[in-house]
Amino acid sequence: MDHPNATRKPEPAPASTRRDAEEESVHRALERFYRAGKPPWDTGVTPPELIALVEGHGALPPGRALELGCGTGTNAAYLARHGWEVTAVDLIDRAVDQAKEKAAAEGVEVRLLHGDATRLDELDAPGPFDLFFDLSCYCGVPLHRRDAYAAGLTHRAAPGARLLMFGYGPEPLGNPTPEVTSWAAGVTADELRARFTGWELLDVTPGTNPVPTFWFTLRRNA
Ligand SMILES: C[S@@+](CC[C@H](N)C(=O)[O-])C[C@H]1O[C@@H](n2cnc3c(N)ncnc32)[C@H](O)[C@@H]1O
Repeated sequence: MDHPNATRKPEPAPASTRRDAEEESVHRALERFYRAGKPPWDTGVTPPELIALVEGHGALPPGRALELGCGTGTNAAYLARHGWEVTAVDLIDRAVDQAKEKAAAEGVEVRLLHGDATRLDELDAPGPFDLFFDLSCYCGVPLHRRDAYAAGLTHRAAPGARLLMFGYGPEPLGNPTPEVTSWAAGVTADELRARFTGWELLDVTPGTNPVPTFWFTLRRNA
């Protein structure tokens, strides 16, 4: 029996919620960006590739969408404005807070969750989802967490669901943030083909950035 005056040690977090050293360094680097003010990627502009999927010729009918690494919520709010039921996740609480403010200011409903896209089981985001959107989140996820990311989406995907992902290719000019080793890895089509079993890589379109970037479209098998 516990001594009545004994100080109880806090319960250790379940193993899956614990970040390892590499994940901690990613977390710290991302927090620094949001603490410093407006991160460089936070343009407030919805990319034409997402607009085409939502409004273009042969647009997807609105359904349920999950955005991974939603930042301050520009694209989650865009999807909600266009009739999608949106859940959006980000690792950094400040980003999620700003996304909540943005959705409220725009008068749209988005379920905004503070959490890890590689640990979706710990969040209330059961799906099934018809669309997953990832603008530059996966390409910064440490390599050893990427199978968990792919499994999380695969378990939540409706038959025929799409994944639209933008990512940086392997960094050709050296890593701009050397303490975050995973950021040099980027993402390639071959990696996605190998990792997303049960999905088809439908399209790879190079981005317009000065370094190699890509828009990937994948479809979950029906
Ligand atoms: C390059 S930023 C892009 C943000 C947003 N998609 C945009 O375009 O403005 C990548 C985002 O992914 C988030 N992120 C990185 N790893 C994550 C993870 N494992 N789970 C959830 N969010 C993550 C970061 O906090 C950051 O907001």
